[in-house]
Amino acid sequence: PGHGSGHGTGLDFRPVAPNTEDRIVAPAGYDQDVVIRWGDPVLPGAPRFDFANQTAAAQAQQFGYNNDFCGLVPLPGRRDAWLMVSNHEYTTETHMFLGYDEDNPTREQVETAWAAHGLSVVVVEKARRGGLEVRLDRHYNRRITVGTEFAFTGPAAGSRHLRTSADPRGRRVLGTLNNCAGGVTPWGTILSGEENFNQYFANADAVTDPVTKARLARYGLAGGASGRRWENHDRRFDLVREPNEANRFGWIVEVDPLEPDSTPVKHTALGRFKHEGANVIVARDGRVVAYMGDDERFDYLYKFVSDKKMKRGNSRHARAHNRTLLESGTLYVARLTGDGAQDGEFDGAGEWIPLARGDRSFVDGFTAEEVYVFTRQAADAVAPTKMDRPEDVEPSPRTGRIYAALTNNTDRGKPGKEGPTEPNPRAANKHGHVLEIEEHRGDNTATRFSWKLLLVCGDPNSPDTYFGGYDKSQVSPISCPDNVAFDSAGNLWISTDGNALSTNDGLFAVPVAGPERGHVKQFLTVPHGAETCGPVVTDDFVLVSVQHPGELDGASADNPLSHWPDGGTSQPRPSVVAVWKH
Ligand code: FEO
Ligand code: CA
Ligand code: CA
Ligand code: CA
Repeated sequence: PGHGSGHGTGLDFRPVAPNTEDRIVAPAGYDQDVVIRWGDPVLPGAPRFDFANQTAAAQAQQFGYNNDFCGLVPLPGRRDAWLMVSNHEYTTETHMFLGYDEDNPTREQVETAWAAHGLSVVVVEKARRGGLEVRLDRHYNRRITVGTEFAFTGPAAGSRHLRTSADPRGRRVLGTLNNCAGGVTPWGTILSGEENFNQYFANADAVTDPVTKARLARYGLAGGASGRRWENHDRRFDLVREPNEANRFGWIVEVDPLEPDSTPVKHTALGRFKHEGANVIVARDGRVVAYMGDDERFDYLYKFVSDKKMKRGNSRHARAHNRTLLESGTLYVARLTGDGAQDGEFDGAGEWIPLARGDRSFVDGFTAEEVYVFTRQAADAVAPTKMDRPEDVEPSPRTGRIYAALTNNTDRGKPGKEGPTEPNPRAANKHGHVLEIEEHRGDNTATRFSWKLLLVCGDPNSPDTYFGGYDKSQVSPISCPDNVAFDSAGNLWISTDGNALSTNDGLFAVPVAGPERGHVKQFLTVPHGAETCGPVVTDDFVLVSVQHPGELDGASADNPLSHWPDGGTSQPRPSVVAVWKH
C-alpha cells in the first residue's frame, strides 16, 4: 500500500487475478522480497542453512518451519525497527529430510523437528530499498522450541489435570506446539494459539478409563502411533505413560519479546481448545477483552474479559501489571440466533454465555478447573452455536466490531451432522464465510451482541455467495478465509488457506464501511501449494507468511513440486515476505 494508496477512501491497487504460479504475484507497481525463510539465522553465529545436512543444533539457532502468525512489536526508542515474532506451526518431515522413513525417524530428525517448532523473535529494520531486513541482534533475537520452559498461569495452574511425572506440581511445561495464529497485545506482548496439538500424542486408543477416554476423544486425541513417532524418543508423548501431558497443550501462550529472558506463559484462564489465536482490545472501562476461535468443524467462538484494567505506558511497572491481565477474568462462549431469511441478510442477535470466572464455574457438573482444562466439554453443556471452523477472530481497533473467519465446513448438513442455520447458512460449506459482530452499545465487555455475515465466500458468479451487498461483478473470488488483520484506515485484510476454487491462496482487502463495503480485492497470491497467513498491514508495507509452499499431492523432499523462493532445483522454504509500493 504506501500512503499514496488511498486507504482512507478505498484501496487503489489493481486486483491480482487468480492463478497457479509458483511465485508471489503482487499488483503492478509493487516490489517484494523475502525477509526471512526456514533455516535462515536467527541467533548470531547460527550456521548457514544446509538442507541436505540439517542438524537439530543448527535448527535451534535458525528460523523454524512453516511460519504462520507474524506480528511486529515496535522497538522502543528506535525508528523503523521492530521485533518480528513468527509462529512455527508444524513440521512436514517428508519435505524436510531426503529419504525420510516415516516409521523410523532418526533421533536427529526428531530433535530437528522439535527445534523447528515454536516461535522466532528477530529484530527487523526498514531496508533502504523498501521492505525489511533482519538484524542478528544479540539481545533480542530468540528461538522458542519444544524444549523451552513455559509457566502456567491462572486458575488452573497447578491443577491435578496438569501434573505429570516430570512436573508433579503442574506448573511448568516444556515447549509449545502447533502455534497457529496469534495477536499483538495493546501492551506489546505476543499471544499465540496452540492449535492441533492432538497430532503429537500417541496411544489414546490404549487408554481405558472412560472419563479420560471421552476427554481425549473430544479433543481429537485418537489412534495408536503418532504421525511423527515422537513417543519413541520422549515418553511424555505417549498417553499411556503420561495421560496428562496432552492437557498441557491447547492453550493461549503469551511471550514478551521485549524481555528476552522472560519465561513465556500459558494462560489457563483463556480455556483449552484448538486455539487458532487470540486478539485483544481494550474496552471502554480499561479492562481487556480477548476474542478467540476453536478451529474445528462445529466448534465455538469464545471471549475472555479480564478482571483488571490495563495500565497505559511502557514503564516496567505498567508492563509487569499488564502481563497479569490474562490471568483472571471471565471466559464466555458464543450463542448466535438468526432473525430469519425474509430480510435478505444473514444476521441476528447473540449472547456470550459465561463458563467460569476464577474459581467459580457457571456450568452444571463442571468444576472451574474442569471448565478451563476441558473447555470444549463444558461449553457443550451450555449449547453454544456450532460454527464452521472459527479461525482468526479479531476486533477492529477503529470500531471495536469483531470479525471472525469461518474457514469452511464440508460436513455441515451431512447425515447425522447439524444442517445450515442463519449464522452458518450453507450445507457442505467449502468456501467459508466472514462474520461481523457488534457488541451491545459498542461495549466489548457486554454479554449481548448483534451479528451479520460480511462475506459468504466462493465464486462471485455463484448465487450462494454474498459480498456485503456490493456488486458481485466487481469483486475478486475468495475462498477459505483464515487470518484477518486491519490497516490504519480500518479496511479488513483476509488471508486464505485451502482455496477451493482450484487456484492459489492469497491475501485480500475489503472495506467494511461506506459504499465500498464488501468490495473484495485480491492483493497478492502465494506460490503453488502454500497458504497465506500472518498478514501485517502497515502504511508502508505488507508482510505475509508463506506457509508450506509446494505442499501438494505427491510432493516430498525427493520430489519437490515448488522451488520457491530460491528457484532452480531448490527445495521450497516457508518464509516471511514483504511487499511494498515502489
Ligand atoms: Fe492452523 Fe486453524 O489454522
Ligand atoms: Ca436475516
Ligand atoms: Ca490458521
Ligand atoms: Ca489476525
